[in-house]
Amino acid sequence: MAATTSTLRARVHATLRHSDDSRSGRRWRAFHLLVLGSGLLAVALSSVQSLPDIVDHLLAVVIGLVAAVFLVEYALRLWSAPESPRYGGLSDSRARLSWAFSATGLIGLLAVVPAFAITLSAIKADSDIASIFCILWILKLSVHAPAMTTLARVISNERATLASVLIVFIIVLVAAATATHFFERDVQPELFGDLPSSLWWAVVTLTTTGYGDVVPHTIGGRIVGSVVMVSGILVLALMTGILATGFAEEVRRREYLRVWDQVVKVPMFTELGTVTLSEIVGKLRVRYYPPRFVVVRRDEPGDSMFFISEGEVEVRLPRDPVRLGQGGFFGEMALLDRLPRSATIVTTRPTTLLVLYASDFYEIAAHIPSLVAAVEKEARRRRQENEAGRIVSGRTA
Ligand code: CMP
Repeated sequence: MAATTSTLRARVHATLRHSDDSRSGRRWRAFHLLVLGSGLLAVALSSVQSLPDIVDHLLAVVIGLVAAVFLVEYALRLWSAPESPRYGGLSDSRARLSWAFSATGLIGLLAVVPAFAITLSAIKADSDIASIFCILWILKLSVHAPAMTTLARVISNERATLASVLIVFIIVLVAAATATHFFERDVQPELFGDLPSSLWWAVVTLTTTGYGDVVPHTIGGRIVGSVVMVSGILVLALMTGILATGFAEEVRRREYLRVWDQVVKVPMFTELGTVTLSEIVGKLRVRYYPPRFVVVRRDEPGDSMFFISEGEVEVRLPRDPVRLGQGGFFGEMALLDRLPRSATIVTTRPTTLLVLYASDFYEIAAHIPSLVAAVEKEARRRRQENEAGRIVSGRTA
């Protein structure tokens, strides 16, 4: 009985996980987005004053239903929290408590607050307060963004550089506010009479927002203003550059690890030395395919070859089809012979492939001759096999 509960709990946890690639996981995410979208739309519409009563009522029902779904989701996530590897070694109740106080747990709780409020009739779902739900529910959208953790990691990686730029920003801000206060305090005492008011102008100018509500009138004030505006552009450009570079680096690092995980499943690669292996890892891309997916079509031009790290494909040849499994490769003939694809290739089950583009293939041919020699040898064998098959089927016909 305990084992059954644990299996069910593990399955529920896997399905609710946002990175889960199973069919049930994808269905759950689509349903969750639909519910979230309907909820947000209903809340936005419910803030319109002149809607007929019946529409108001309908919207209240939708909001109540969405809140109920979030309540059930929260309960399921709380129940299945002990399955998370993050809480390995903790007791069930401690794991649940840790999850409840995590960012996802708190966002989940904030999203069900309306459900509690409606149930307790503290507020009516169609009241104006309902629009507050919108703010709470929109937070749930963040868990659908796969790059959210990457962004957090980038900010953490670049925190020293970002802090330096922030300090420059603060120095320019305070210096500009003080200088403008000095130049403008007599001409516009109501706007620049004290430092906090000048700081407001400096923030608006430095961030290049420029409301135009406060404008320096003296020559000195305008010169300071010009310097602040240019500094603002520089500081923002610097921030954008740091974040963009950090983001690109983090994505590249993750992709490298993802490829490495798959590369070690292909014996052809593991036989290479570590240095050669790390060179090839940088050139491969991981692609996931569902069953019965046509990866390569006969007679189409070929711009890449594929290594199978997981799953299986079927090579549809004029005679009997051939199956290639983990560690196999295909698509090499078009690159070697510079001819169109010689066969159609279809996945037979969920398959993970490592793609090597033609330009990288030709580059590797120069650097790692042993790998390309092995590919060429197999291509020769396949050509002979196909030729023999053609002769046999020609005779049979
Ligand atoms: P390409 O011609 O680029 O595209 C189709 C691929 O099918 C081909 O490269 C080979 O990789 C693969 N292929 C062709 N013939 C055979 C065979 N007899 N056995 C296994 N794979 C083959």
